[in-house]
Amino acid sequence: MTSPKMVTSAKFTSFNKNTVYVIPISKKSDKLVIAETPIETSSLATVDLASVGVSVELEALVRLPAPNGATYALVGVGSKKLAIDDFRNLGASIARKLSSFKDVVVGLPTNDAKETAAIFEGAALGLYVHNKYKGLSKGTEIKLQSVTVISSHKPAPAALNEITVLAESVNLTRNLVNTPGRDMFPDSLAKAVQAAAKGTGVTTQIWNEERLAKEGLGGILGVGQGSSRGPRLVKLEYKPKVSKTHLALVGKGITFDTGGLSLKPSISMLGMHYDMTGAASVAAATIAIAKLQLPIRVTAWLCIAENMPSGTAQRPNDVIKARNGMTIEVLNTDAEGRLVLADGLSLASEAKPDYIVDVATLTGAVQIALGNRHAGLMGDQEAVDAVKLAAEDAGELVWQLPLAKELRSLIDSEIADIANVKMGNTAGGTIIGGLFLQEFVGNRAKGESDNIKWAHLDIAATANNDGAAYGVVPKGATGSHVRTLVALAKRIG
Ligand code: BES
Ligand code: ZN
Ligand code: ZN
Repeated sequence: MTSPKMVTSAKFTSFNKNTVYVIPISKKSDKLVIAETPIETSSLATVDLASVGVSVELEALVRLPAPNGATYALVGVGSKKLAIDDFRNLGASIARKLSSFKDVVVGLPTNDAKETAAIFEGAALGLYVHNKYKGLSKGTEIKLQSVTVISSHKPAPAALNEITVLAESVNLTRNLVNTPGRDMFPDSLAKAVQAAAKGTGVTTQIWNEERLAKEGLGGILGVGQGSSRGPRLVKLEYKPKVSKTHLALVGKGITFDTGGLSLKPSISMLGMHYDMTGAASVAAATIAIAKLQLPIRVTAWLCIAENMPSGTAQRPNDVIKARNGMTIEVLNTDAEGRLVLADGLSLASEAKPDYIVDVATLTGAVQIALGNRHAGLMGDQEAVDAVKLAAEDAGELVWQLPLAKELRSLIDSEIADIANVKMGNTAGGTIIGGLFLQEFVGNRAKGESDNIKWAHLDIAATANNDGAAYGVVPKGATGSHVRTLVALAKRIG
């Protein structure tokens, strides 16, 4: 999916066929009114807006005929001053709901170039459908080619370029994640990422099973050993000429999570091709950071395996050794994300980066705790604070959970250095995931301090949207928090 052409025009000229003109509707002393708009609306003067179903609710949209065979789209803009997120979400729902038109002309009054840019950003993010697997039945066809915002506040070319890069990287994530496990397996994910990175200034290395064994990556190998399609590690590097900060990103890349021998029930297994979202997200963010030439060094580690039950699969009570030398008793093969990330975090730590952020669809518990729109955020306070601010910049939601110390002893193992779960425990599942991961950051397993600022994002509940599209979020893979990672690179770089 390519983004629509973004055009700003200082004034309204005339109505054209195949074009839809977006008119804001607000409320004034309890009456629906057409808000200030640069578009000619005299032909609407006699329409009783309420009687044709017009509403001021944000994102509500009603179409009416306009002069010259054109169309009006009356769009609710509420009764409060619009925030930047509102412009982004309005841009998205306008583009999505009007994607059957060739041209959309937006008459929302914007007060500065940032608000104009937010409409474009929303449109580029909202205009996504997953059509690839439709056969005889046709999916929604997107005809929209251009979005024109009438405003005297024109974003600079660099701002428009940034929007395009961000939308491309979010849509890359969505495409990778929406691909079923039949087609998306460790080697195909590694190759797809390598192809996407080509020509962007990001270098890639793909480590096969032999190399994984040579490097001592017992977590990734252990999880991957039950599948006929072997595990991989992908290392992405972006090294600009000047940079003061080194950011390491680590992503969980389980291309399908059956649970392994601790098999998931059928209903919970549905959607488990989303379990590589962390890896796809950190890859897409790294590529975006390179395309934007941000002055920050980024190394991304994608920990990729397919978690299958078979005669070669790892068993409950098996003990594996992670890259940092720590032994892990695998009590539940379905808590596999933390096993592959153990290796990724250890590897990432070796270069002593300033920050490590890992991204993973780690626990079902995060949905119980936070619902479907906030990602769980844990880690060192400095890194957590930076991620919080970045998420705000991006208009994405995160919520910090404590790394509650008293829960750590639950994952002591009788026979190894640590266990991957506490069987039968239901308290603080997301936090225990965070406490486990922390052991593999820097020198923490040895009880020594390090200068790495680490944050963990549990995106298990935000990676996929089971419901209808809303704002910039489509159905299916959302690409959530990719823009947060890019915003983080901008802040700390
Ligand atoms: N991939 C799942 C987590 C998940 C659940 C992601 C639902 C998206 C939606 C993860 O590997 C897993 O199975 N975690 C277990 C951990 C438990 C065994 C401690 C879980 O959440 O049940
Ligand atoms: Zn699992
Ligand atoms: Zn998983």
